[in-house]
Amino acid sequence: MSRRGKVTVVGAGFYGSTTAQRLAEYDVFETVVLTDIVEGKAEGLALDLNQSRPIEGFETTVVGATTTVDGGGYEPTAGSDVVVITAGLPRKPGMSRMDLLEVNAKIVRGVAEKIAEYSPEAVIVVVSNPLDEMTALTQLASAFPKNRVFGQAGVLDTARFTNNVATTLGVPVGSVQTLTLGSHGDTMVPVPSACFVDGKPLADVLDADKIEELVTRTRNGGAEVVALLKTGSAYYAPSAAAARMAKAVITDSGAIIPVCAWVDGEYGIDGVYLGVEAEIGSTGVKRIVERDLTDSELAGLKEAAEAVRAKQADIAAL
Ligand code: NAI
Ligand code: 2OP
Repeated sequence: MSRRGKVTVVGAGFYGSTTAQRLAEYDVFETVVLTDIVEGKAEGLALDLNQSRPIEGFETTVVGATTTVDGGGYEPTAGSDVVVITAGLPRKPGMSRMDLLEVNAKIVRGVAEKIAEYSPEAVIVVVSNPLDEMTALTQLASAFPKNRVFGQAGVLDTARFTNNVATTLGVPVGSVQTLTLGSHGDTMVPVPSACFVDGKPLADVLDADKIEELVTRTRNGGAEVVALLKTGSAYYAPSAAAARMAKAVITDSGAIIPVCAWVDGEYGIDGVYLGVEAEIGSTGVKRIVERDLTDSELAGLKEAAEAVRAKQADIAAL
């Protein structure tokens, strides 16, 4: 198998370490670099992952690096093709993603500036919350073209929606197709008109009240896990989502997936980072893919755009 390129995962917490594991096990990258500000944490996890190589049968090498809060130690990340930013605090029970805004903005701004310095050609996948705002901030702080900075939310939220439908109906997840757009938050827009079970419209197999219940559960999917875990937030499904996005970039796959991307004109929405479907490849977002939405879905997407726009307007000051 031919391996290529370097992916850096910034932040070796639950999200970052499981993302690094998935990326290494794909065996498509030459190198996975994992960083954290906690002395030795990334190096220890990298060693552990490398020791799993003979068992799992992959040759990708994992490199751990301790960085400092003032931006030291980024040398091992140099020349990365893809960077996944997971650095930042997760939610505690009762907290909203927006409660993380100020503290994570400082962290993400510093990380984005260093990535721009050491990996000026990278594509950045943002994960840290609040996601839509941190994606916009990363683009500002890195000064990268907007197509090379996008955020992870829609792949995860869609997977949650699909799982909710499949478990409710008792069918394989593989027979269910769903979609969420909008923000990774209260104005998430699950799109029932794009949902199918074995090719049949969701509305033909579930009544409207049940669909509404599943939509609400999807919107609260992250909080549901946080409430059960008590400390920290979800990471298995989230890391699967971010790793798939990084893989789509390095393999130039052209996959069309829901991501937090810069929208400028599509759906009649101007100049905002928002969850939409996009074609992903080596240059990041190759194009936004518009689909027919019902009037209420389109209204929900526009409402999400205005809610996110209001918050993104303030991020330059953070
Ligand atoms: P965690 O607390 O397990 O890990 C965060 C790590 O970031 C820690 O190891 C910490 O030392 C590190 N860190 C802090 N500042 C850093 C810096 N300047 N450079 C490098 N590393 C730094 O948290 P977890 O569960 O890994 O979550 C990470 C972030 O991802 C949170 O903001 C969380 O809300 C977000 N998240 C986003 C999701 C999404 O769908 N977009 C889903 C789940 C979590
Ligand atoms: C999630 O959706 C908390 O954003 C995180 O799991």
